[in-house]
Amino acid sequence: MSGSVPVLVITNRKGGAGKTTVSLNIAAEFAATGRRILLVDLDSQGHCAVGLGVKLTAGQATVHDIFTQPEMGLGEAIHKTSINNLFLLPANPAFQHDNSGKDEQRLARALTDELITAQFDLVIIDTPPTLDNLLLNALSAASWVLVPYVPHPLSFEGVRQLVRVLFKVISERNPTLKILGFLPVMTTNHIRQHRQVTEQVTKQFGALRVLNGIRTDIKLAEAFGVGKPVRVYAPKSRGAEDFSELAATLLQLMEK
Ligand SMILES: Nc1ncnc2c1ncn2[C@@H]1O[C@H](COP(=O)(O)OP(=O)(O)OP(=O)(O)O)[C@@H](O)[C@H]1O
Ligand SMILES: [Mg+2]
Repeated sequence: MSGSVPVLVITNRKGGAGKTTVSLNIAAEFAATGRRILLVDLDSQGHCAVGLGVKLTAGQATVHDIFTQPEMGLGEAIHKTSINNLFLLPANPAFQHDNSGKDEQRLARALTDELITAQFDLVIIDTPPTLDNLLLNALSAASWVLVPYVPHPLSFEGVRQLVRVLFKVISERNPTLKILGFLPVMTTNHIRQHRQVTEQVTKQFGALRVLNGIRTDIKLAEAFGVGKPVRVYAPKSRGAEDFSELAATLLQLMEK
């Protein structure tokens, strides 16, 4: 089910696959086009707040509170960021993933709140590197899924397992969910192994689904460290160029 705001979920169960980097840089690219973007950090590591330089104080409302407080709405947890049109629903770093309950639709319902639907054009959800009820909540709310992956040999199996979960969610819970694409990140074209993994993904899931990659660029890691999207921190970098192209491609795919 998707509410009346479209929802893009960035996921890969593998840790360090570029989910947060992609989520916040894509969110910043879309926000720069004038779209009002809500970035939801479902990962209790809380990296979206770090990557956007949002300071939180103890006891502030977070997206995770909806899983422990059945009546809570998301409105009170929304934070401004330093980027125009970009808002954050931060994570609770103390949240225990076992406390996410059994309701797979909790987030989808919360996103239909008028406070969200009236204020935003697109919701982007960054997910934890786990296959648990939090991920099922994200997938149940999703209109589209984007899967970043680092093209090394171990990641192909991880992507295959994730795709199995996605097909199950599509057939049992959310038939309108679309896989937007697979996105190689931290790519280095001259490494043969990178090319081989992307060839495997292409063979299995189709060339149309494998997007142009995000190259390795230290500026992306630095930008994260200083709490800024790369388009602000290093607008002329390879990373900024790749994210700008990716955003244009995704907007086209989402309009189809
Ligand atoms: N294209 C890139 N070039 C260089 N460094 C990158 C690139 N993409 C991501 N990184 C760095 O790689 C690390 C992992 O990326 P990121 O945190 O986005 O992955 P993740 O999938 O969100 O991880 P987790 O599963 O822990 O949430 C970070 O230090 C990030 O700055
Ligand atoms: Mg992350």
